[in-house]
Amino acid sequence: MWKQAIEDALAKTKVNITRFGDLFPHVSENDIYDLNPNTDWTDGFWSGLLWLSYQYSGDQAFQEAAQKTVASFKQRLADNVALDHHDIGFLYSLSSKAQWILEGDEDAKQLTLQAADVLMKRWRPKGQYIQAWGPEGDEQNGGRIIIDCLMNLPLLYWAYEKTGDAKYQEVAVAHADLSRRYLVRGDDSSYHTFYFDQETGEPLRGGTAQGYHDGSTWTRGQAWGIYGFALSYHYTKNPLYLETAKRLARYFFDRLPEDDVVYWDFNAPVNAETKRDSSASAIASAGALEILEHLAADDPDRAYLEAGVQRSMAGLVKSYATIGKEDAQGLLERGSYSVRGGAAPDDYVIWGDYYYLEALLRLEKGFKGYWYE
Ligand code: GLY
Repeated sequence: MWKQAIEDALAKTKVNITRFGDLFPHVSENDIYDLNPNTDWTDGFWSGLLWLSYQYSGDQAFQEAAQKTVASFKQRLADNVALDHHDIGFLYSLSSKAQWILEGDEDAKQLTLQAADVLMKRWRPKGQYIQAWGPEGDEQNGGRIIIDCLMNLPLLYWAYEKTGDAKYQEVAVAHADLSRRYLVRGDDSSYHTFYFDQETGEPLRGGTAQGYHDGSTWTRGQAWGIYGFALSYHYTKNPLYLETAKRLARYFFDRLPEDDVVYWDFNAPVNAETKRDSSASAIASAGALEILEHLAADDPDRAYLEAGVQRSMAGLVKSYATIGKEDAQGLLERGSYSVRGGAAPDDYVIWGDYYYLEALLRLEKGFKGYWYE
């Protein structure tokens, strides 16, 4: 089942190389991907899809297209285009770091290290966190962390590994610890975001940007937490991170609906109109597969996590993937970017396509994505 889904994904990605040209897909409108000239937070996912496709197939068409995206990311960093946010980790882990991992390209390694330095500029020592959005001191966002940021930390852990400079690791660990303390709730659900006093670092309150309400659990946020804490465990071996990733995963997989693919928020009322977020299921699956990398063969949590992944991925392949729809641009239908905000509430989202293929390749080939080497 996975192999057919992978082959279908690669065929679509190949057509998309010509279709997209030098542009990068973000989310779709009426089944057509919106394209941008490498100016969005999501552009690394297209690069990552190309690298995964190359790694699986050895096909140079994917390699050349992926290399072109890295050249674009080099220019983006040189020109400092739209890098005033924390998603530098998504952008450069899946583009230049992927190239370093697959090709050992020294320029790509240096570019990735430069990107880590850009991310470090968002460190706010008073509060001991990485500021997600907006300029330093920003009234609305200056004191705000978001759970998605856990997926940007691997860039810093990796920079520590490569340079030996402890500052990268210290920042990543401090941010992961704060996220664990304030974003993860006692019942293993999660806040999307949390606010701190910018001057004193005092914790203020949880909140949301894309969830149903401030105290709800946005499914994609929960999925970012599963994968993000698993990766913090990979790099640090702090057992608290692994335990947190497992707890978040259990909350997620305990709440799979009938067709095994989650709605957009665990607290959103469910009726015939309720939107899904297929990308959350893809991210949670890839994240749970990362957790499984760290569990012994007889670990009591193994069977539960394996079942959660199998159900989620089979649900995606069976009912959400565009398998057999030859002209489809996206790999997964029914992703949502921001349901409450009315942005791509029921569409292709490029990160959904990326994590779907990453999870399929983890299952079929044991690939790990490009969060570490
Ligand atoms: N990291 C932004 C999002 O998941 O929409």
